[in-house]
Amino acid sequence: MYQVKPIAPDRLPALLRLMPKAELHIHIEGSLEPELIFALAQRNGLSLPYADVEALRRAYAFSNLQSFLDIYYAGASVLIHEQDFYDMARAYLLRAAADNVLHTEIFFDPQTHTARGVSLDTVINGLHRACVDARTETGISASLILCFLRHLSEEEAFATLEQALPLRDKFIGVGLDSSELGHPPEKFARVFARCRELGFHLVAHAGEEGPASYIWSALDVLKVERIDHGVRCVQDALLMQRLAQDRIPLTVCPLSNLKLRVFERLAEHNLGQLLDAGLAATVNSDDPAYFGGYINDNFVQTFAATGLSAQHAYTLARNSFEASFIDASAKRGFQDQLDQVLESFF
Ligand code: HPA
Ligand code: ZN
Repeated sequence: MYQVKPIAPDRLPALLRLMPKAELHIHIEGSLEPELIFALAQRNGLSLPYADVEALRRAYAFSNLQSFLDIYYAGASVLIHEQDFYDMARAYLLRAAADNVLHTEIFFDPQTHTARGVSLDTVINGLHRACVDARTETGISASLILCFLRHLSEEEAFATLEQALPLRDKFIGVGLDSSELGHPPEKFARVFARCRELGFHLVAHAGEEGPASYIWSALDVLKVERIDHGVRCVQDALLMQRLAQDRIPLTVCPLSNLKLRVFERLAEHNLGQLLDAGLAATVNSDDPAYFGGYINDNFVQTFAATGLSAQHAYTLARNSFEASFIDASAKRGFQDQLDQVLESFF
């Protein structure tokens, strides 16, 4: 582990932006900027219940997760054709590459689209082609994780899995997102067991709005490899020990937590507490078009508000590669690049 030299506070934002990193918690539908929503609506001959981009942006005032999800699913309704999915993913990948994201694992919500009559082929082929092209164009490495919507039934998740299996070489894992409260991980025990048999990587949102017990069941019932959010683990000392001992990564999203009022102020965010307890926390953007910032904005604003150090920055970037689902030699390669960038920064 690289020992970071102290730096003047005014140089910290530059370090945060420059350091190579992985992004592991990004919902591609949450990267759909209002400008692109309007452009796609026009291209597809759809009308929106907002006069213009600014009116839509003004509607982005959330009181909790559900108030966000309602508007997020409405925004995604402009995605109809494979090219729409391609354009959305391409915009995110170029933006991420500009933030020095070397690798990203991107969530998508197939049921949001299949429920509107869009085929799974359209969704996955468009997203996947964007990942392949961005690799050639910018060097960014990207893979896809299919998320089941937890407010729907396990039977519907099974049906989605079945439809997706012919495209299984185009996604690396499955996740669980949408309304957390009242939809505990164990509701999806059988479908996650099946995905595990099939060799998919497993992740789940847990402990964003839901209690620490949801994190336990994501680990012990679903057998996930990472927890998305997980910030409510601090309510349970035994759980903190488990997460630290097993190096279970948490994909933390500070600006999301602020906008969905998981924390009332960024200064109250517990990222530092998680890191200081030895947890493999990472920083991510979740739904950057809705929460006011991409990954570097999350880093810069959180560090400014909480007073985290350059050593924390290095730990977060290193954790992001450790927590990713790339092979060991690719991880070492990225971590070496991180060390080199830090070395030349000082
Ligand atoms: N939580 C749950 N579901 C989601 C989120 C989130 O933060 N973003 C997009 N879908
Ligand atoms: Zn999320």
